[in-house]
Amino acid sequence: MALRSDKKLLRVLQGEAIWPPPVWLMRQAGRYLPEYREIRRQAGSFLDLCYNPDLATEVTLQPIRRFGFDGAILFSDILVIPHALGQDVRFAEGEGPRLEPVAALHDLDRLTDVLPLERLAPVFETLSRLKTALPSETTLLGFCGAPWTVASYMIAGKGTPDQAPARVLAYRDPAFMTALIDRLVEASTTYLAAQVEAGAEAVQIFESFGGALPPALFGPLSLDPIGRIVRGLKERRPEAKVIVFVRGGGPNLARLVDAGIADAIALDWSMDLAAALPMVPRYVATQGNLDPLALMAGGAALDRSVEAVLAAARGRPHIFNLGHGILPETPIAHVERMVAQVRTA
Ligand code: CP3
Repeated sequence: MALRSDKKLLRVLQGEAIWPPPVWLMRQAGRYLPEYREIRRQAGSFLDLCYNPDLATEVTLQPIRRFGFDGAILFSDILVIPHALGQDVRFAEGEGPRLEPVAALHDLDRLTDVLPLERLAPVFETLSRLKTALPSETTLLGFCGAPWTVASYMIAGKGTPDQAPARVLAYRDPAFMTALIDRLVEASTTYLAAQVEAGAEAVQIFESFGGALPPALFGPLSLDPIGRIVRGLKERRPEAKVIVFVRGGGPNLARLVDAGIADAIALDWSMDLAAALPMVPRYVATQGNLDPLALMAGGAALDRSVEAVLAAARGRPHIFNLGHGILPETPIAHVERMVAQVRTA
C-alpha cells in the first residue's frame, strides 16, 4: 500500500475528508504583501518576474512563510501561453494585460501551431526549485487558464466586462473560434503535463470568464475544452490531480459534475455552499468559496463568513479558499485571523 502522504491538500484531492480542511488562497502571492511589492519593484516588468526563476520562486514562497498555507501555487500568469505562442503580451502598469488582438483565422498564422516549451523553461525551472524548497507538508500547485478565458484575452487584447468581443466572434466566425480553442487545448495540455513533470502535484484550471457564456456555448467553448485538457493530461501524467474553477459556473454546476473531469470543483463566492455541496458526489473534492470582500472587510462579518463555509463543508473533502482571488487592499491581519479560524475548526 502506498504511504499516506503528509500533504493534506493532496489527500483531499484523493477524496479524503480531512478536518480542519487544508487552506490556500487564489492569488496568494501578490500586491497585498509588502515583500511581494518589493520584489516586484526589483524585477522590472511583470513578465520579467514570471520568467525569473530566482524571483518567481521567492514570491511563491512568501505567502507560505507568512501563513503556512497547505498549497503553494506557482507564480506565473495565464497569459504566458499566448506569449509563448508568439502573441505580443504586455502588462501595462496599473492597467492590466494588453495583447495584440487576434480576430480571424489568418491571424493565427502569426502564432506557432505547437507550444514551444523551451520558451517556458524558466517556469519549469521555478517548479523544480519549489519542489525542493517547500516544506514536506505543502502541496505544489501548477495552473493554466481555460481556453475560453485565455481566448477572450487574445481576441479583445485586454480584459473586458462581459467578454463581448470574443462572444460575438463565437457567433460570427465559429471556424475561427474552434481553431483558436483547439490550439489552446493542445498548448494547455502540453504545458500542464510539463508542469507536472517539473514537480507540480496538482494543477488548477482557471475559467475566470465562465459566467459570460450562455448555456448553448458553455459546452463547446468551456466544458468540452477543459475536459479534453484533463483527459490529455491524465493520459500523459496519470498521477496529476486537477482542480477546475469556473467563475460564474453556478448555473452549470450540474453539467460540470456530470462531466466527471475534476478531482476538485472550485466554487466562486456567489454560490450558497450549503445548497451546492449536496449536488457534488462525496468522492469529488470541493474548494472555496469565501467572498474576497469579506476577507478585505474583516471583523465579525469575516468570522461569520468563514464559519458559514466551514459549517457547510464539514465532513466532506474540502479545500478552504476564496471564491476568487485575494484583493490587493486586503489587510494581512485579516488573512492571519482567517487562517487561525480555519485551523481551529
Ligand atoms: O495565485 C497566485 O498567487 C499565482 C499567480 C497568479 C497570477 N495570476 C499572478 C498575477 C495566477 C494563478 C494568476 C491567474 C490569472 N491571471 C487569472 C485567473 C485568475 C483570476 O483572477 O480570475 C487571470 C484572469 C489572469 C490575467 C491577469 N494577470 C490580469 C487580469 C492581471 C491584472 C489584474 C491584476 O490583478 O493586476 C494580471 C496580473 C497579475 N497576475 C498580477 C499577479 C500577482 C499583478 C501584477 C503586478 O504585480 O503588477
